[in-house]
Amino acid sequence: MSALLLLEYLIYGASGLLLLLGVKYLWLSLRQRPYHPDPWLKAREKGDIPEDVLRYERKSSDKVRVYNIWYQIQRIQQECVKGDFAELGVYKGESAWLMHTLAPTRTFHLFDTFKGFHKDDLKYETGEAATYDWHDFADTDEELVRRKLGNSQHIQIHAGYFPDTTDGLGDLTFSLVNIDADLYAPVSAGLNYFYPRLSTGGVIMVHDYTYRWEGLRRAVDEFITTIPENIIHVPDRFGTVMIIKNKPAPASQSGAPH
Ligand SMILES: C[S@@+](CC[C@H](N)C(=O)[O-])C[C@H]1O[C@@H](n2cnc3c(N)ncnc32)[C@H](O)[C@@H]1O
Repeated sequence: MSALLLLEYLIYGASGLLLLLGVKYLWLSLRQRPYHPDPWLKAREKGDIPEDVLRYERKSSDKVRVYNIWYQIQRIQQECVKGDFAELGVYKGESAWLMHTLAPTRTFHLFDTFKGFHKDDLKYETGEAATYDWHDFADTDEELVRRKLGNSQHIQIHAGYFPDTTDGLGDLTFSLVNIDADLYAPVSAGLNYFYPRLSTGGVIMVHDYTYRWEGLRRAVDEFITTIPENIIHVPDRFGTVMIIKNKPAPASQSGAPH
């Protein structure tokens, strides 16, 4: 067989293989079209989800996180859980925008240094957070976030080091809190500040509870031993966990003698 003929066979073989792989890829991508949870579809049909939230969901690389935030806000509204919203760890306001757009009339407290992490908080970090520098997440500011959220009167920005920025805030109650601060110190301080002020049925979500953020995990694991609730795992991209404040047990189940 001449070398030319052999080359021709090889080219045919490789093209056939590429074609097969292409067909398989197309088939798999058609079969794995992203799903939408049923209640989301129903709300979308009824026009109950704002257009820009639908656009945000389409572009999001973590749709499960978007659905979960939407579910929790729906539940809080339907169950009339009282209290403000809060976020600790705002950066440029991406998740804050979603929370605010889904409940624009709830008072929303935003806590961030807007200058990145505190050097002392980074000192003892291990895992992913040990690679952080204090100026990671420092390329933002309060005004940028205020503009992104539409300069609403319901937004209260507390710029500076948390928990120092809670001094003098008075008797606040919260229904939904998103803690997205990556490190042991702010996450621990956040759980200790927000949990006692959380309404019954209110939820604290902690983002990034994965093996990669070791300090943050330790803060959650330590805190959970001090309260009656368990953590609820959300299978989103970076492992959100939630604490939903228990209702008191009904008298009939309290174990009291009848
Ligand atoms: C991962 S970013 C938040 C991302 C944001 N939720 C979003 O949707 O893009 C973490 C943020 O936590 C803030 N942070 C960390 N420790 C803090 C502290 N002790 N006080 C205030 N902000 C803090 C950082 O400044 C940073 O902006």
